[in-house]
Amino acid sequence: MSEFNERLILPDIAGLHTIEVYEQHNGYQALRKALAMKPEEVTDEVKKSNLRGRGGACFPTGLKWTFMPKQSAKPKYLCANGDESEPGTFKDRQIFEQNPHLFIEGAVIAAYAMGIETVYVYIRGEYAKWVKMLQKAVDDAYAKNYIGKNVLGSPFSVNLYLYKGAGAYICGEESALMNSLEGNRGYPRVKPPFPAQNGLWGCPTTINNIETIANVPVILNRGWEWFSKIGAPKQPGTLLYGISGHVNKPGVYELPTGVLLSDLIHRYAGGVPGNKKIKAVIPGGSSTMWLRGEELDGVRMDADSLKAAGSSIGTAGVIVMDEDTDVLKVLARITHFYHHESCGQCTPCREGCGWMEKILNRFVAGDGTMADVDLLLDVANNVEGNTICALGDAAAWPIQSFIRKFRDEFEKRARTTPRSPSYIPPPHLVTTGA
Ligand SMILES: Cc1cc2nc3c(=O)[nH]c(=O)nc-3n(C[C@H](O)[C@H](O)[C@H](O)COP(=O)(O)O)c2cc1C
Repeated sequence: MSEFNERLILPDIAGLHTIEVYEQHNGYQALRKALAMKPEEVTDEVKKSNLRGRGGACFPTGLKWTFMPKQSAKPKYLCANGDESEPGTFKDRQIFEQNPHLFIEGAVIAAYAMGIETVYVYIRGEYAKWVKMLQKAVDDAYAKNYIGKNVLGSPFSVNLYLYKGAGAYICGEESALMNSLEGNRGYPRVKPPFPAQNGLWGCPTTINNIETIANVPVILNRGWEWFSKIGAPKQPGTLLYGISGHVNKPGVYELPTGVLLSDLIHRYAGGVPGNKKIKAVIPGGSSTMWLRGEELDGVRMDADSLKAAGSSIGTAGVIVMDEDTDVLKVLARITHFYHHESCGQCTPCREGCGWMEKILNRFVAGDGTMADVDLLLDVANNVEGNTICALGDAAAWPIQSFIRKFRDEFEKRARTTPRSPSYIPPPHLVTTGA
């Protein structure tokens, strides 16, 4: 794979977050270009670029845009998803901080392509600092008529509003996001109907991740053909890799898709403190399947390569754990997160996440048995695929993969003596039905 060194989303330009510097560096030229094209030509450009969503599911962006009806008696909406609550994922906030106008320009172009007059940016409420920064950029873009009535003198008008979430991971799921925006409880909706037919307030809606949208001006400026040749052919472009855990230089690194995971850890993030061995890596945010330290060689960071390695690219949030990590404790902590964040609507997720957490806590307390591992897998298998949204899957996948790859961790920790018949577990270790 050829080296591609350019940073497209987060270039190293001082003051780029201001509209003046952004304009000096070709800012809002892609919008001018788009407005001179037919809306369907813009969608076609994005489709041909092969851009895939950066929100976790890798769905082809241009194709998603074509699902929106061209003519609609109802208003149409674009929801830009900046909820960013998956543990290990912290890349969209870098866009808000360093290059907010690239995102705004992309959102206006996307709205133009789909005939949308209203854009909502659903942004994580805890991101108070970045909400402020983004709002300033939005105000400046309004003042220069990049957003608003008759954008740059064209017949196209669009409004863009920020909406702060209230600290719920589930509201990053696209249909829960729409319910939350409507002022309702953030419950995911059953699909179909899909958002393009029946979304926000029952109107045609497209939901895209912030990083996905930020790629749009780049594609318009440089052309689909150029973009489609960067990185992994089936998922081209750059990715904002967020790398955390046991690395010397944690942070967000913009590199082409398909970079070697080992390069990301050692060459870019400075390797593991104390040159310790790596015990485990979660490659795409906490919901993705675990990899053992010994199996990282040759693994590339793109959808196909990680699928072949038994995981997924997710949001490219890489979590590295060194040889001294209590990985069972990490898994129990992650499961606690999903239990806490389950909206409670679907029984398998509501109950199953709690059971999985309790079984894992038993192991952490040194009180699990190998029969509990089978029970844990059984529960995880019954959560996966049996819920309205993918939060249940997100809770089950790390556990299923951990059982496959780290059975030795359970064996090391399992009780070797049977529990006494009079054993009464402490309440936090009680598993209903176990
Ligand atoms: C529980 C859950 C949480 C999610 N959180 C986010 C999020 O914070 N940001 C995001 O862009 N997508 C999130 N997603 C994925 C969205 O549902 C949706 O697929 C995505 O926003 C689509 O954007 P894209 O096509 O540009 O990737 C989440 C999904 C689930 C199941």
